[in-house]
Amino acid sequence: MTATFHYRENVLYCEDVELSRITAETGTPCYVYSTDALREGYLAYERALEGAPHRVCFAVKANSNLSVLRLLGELGAGFDIVSGGELFRVLKAGGDPSKVVFAGVGKTREEIEFALGQGIFGFNCESEAELALISSLAVRLRKTASVSVRVNPDVDAQTHPYISTGLREHKFGIDIAEVEQVYERARLLPNLALNGVSCHIGSQLLDAAPLIESARKMISLAERLRTRGFDIHHLDLGGSIGVPYQPGEVQPDLAGYLTAVRLLIEGKDLTLMFEPGRWVAARAGALLTRVLYRKRNGEKEFMVVDAAMNDLIRPALYQAWHEIQPLRKNQFGTVLADVVGPICESGDFMARDREVVNALPGDTLALLNAGAYGFTQASNYNARPRACEVLVDGAAWRIVRRRETFEDLIRGEE
Ligand code: LLP
Repeated sequence: MTATFHYRENVLYCEDVELSRITAETGTPCYVYSTDALREGYLAYERALEGAPHRVCFAVKANSNLSVLRLLGELGAGFDIVSGGELFRVLKAGGDPSKVVFAGVGKTREEIEFALGQGIFGFNCESEAELALISSLAVRLRKTASVSVRVNPDVDAQTHPYISTGLREHKFGIDIAEVEQVYERARLLPNLALNGVSCHIGSQLLDAAPLIESARKMISLAERLRTRGFDIHHLDLGGSIGVPYQPGEVQPDLAGYLTAVRLLIEGKDLTLMFEPGRWVAARAGALLTRVLYRKRNGEKEFMVVDAAMNDLIRPALYQAWHEIQPLRKNQFGTVLADVVGPICESGDFMARDREVVNALPGDTLALLNAGAYGFTQASNYNARPRACEVLVDGAAWRIVRRRETFEDLIRGEE
């Protein structure tokens, strides 16, 4: 549980709103986000970096709801995008393009042109071919593109293999052993300002040590590049530190990590950039779902709920663990069960062999820590309309994305 989602007399609240008041109007499944938690997640970065030159760019892939982006933008956040669609969302939410960094291994010509046209802060480039393309498009549009090469520092993030990115065997970035030659060759390309270095070794790191090790490698790279005459003025260290999902996982010390990095760059005249997604959004959100049925197959007990892997794919894809709590505590204790969705796949589960609240059909449950990579990874699989999204602010709440309808499902089809 978090301070954001908490019980008052056996009733679950988000800030000052009783969650069952929301579902009474919206139905389920429904994502609920806390304004306060989003703000605090972002401000934790700002506070720890105060006084050091820095920019915090929220990773839009974690939660791209327009109201969430607007809230963060108003607090001063920049944005880390990985597609033209994410840039479109940032602009629609009033985000400042001059605070946008564009990452990703497969940027298309159209996306690069769009980003150059909007005057984004810069590109984190992942290959020499991409550098050449950005250069040629910048020449055509008579712009100078600010670029950092995304470096693969060859540090093991020790996180889930699907979200670990900093080893040589991964598709991301350019090997740190070769990157200086890449900058040298890129020096010859017109209309590029090679003024930064970037890396991102993985997501959901519960230990800051690999992050600090890669920061150290990146700082010495920045210094070597300066010796070669490159005007490196920023160092982008990628995403956030992890958040605890399971009991027993300890919350990493974000301020300690950021302070360690600040000490490393002291006196080096480098602007620090970070691209946190999970840290800002995960704990700010819950997915609310209703129990449809209880059933027993042999020895196994199943709780069938109305949210499925199309709504929250994290358990199916990363064996992720989301805490499950009832909207109203009952007197029936707990039960060892699989909590599963309606989709026709055995991988469609929210929890497996878990001691969960002994909820009955009609009861509503909250899957906690679902504010990052929840709705953004939702799909229409099994022709299921996507859930609605709600933003809570104190005692007030509003729907910030309506539930999809059947008509939404066939929009654009013949
Ligand atoms: N920057 C880059 C270049 C990234 O690739 C990512 C995440 C981030 C920043 C943000 O990382 P964060 O602060 O959120 O850890 N869908 C997965 C997570 C995928 C992360 C991909 N990249 C999940 O649900 O756990």
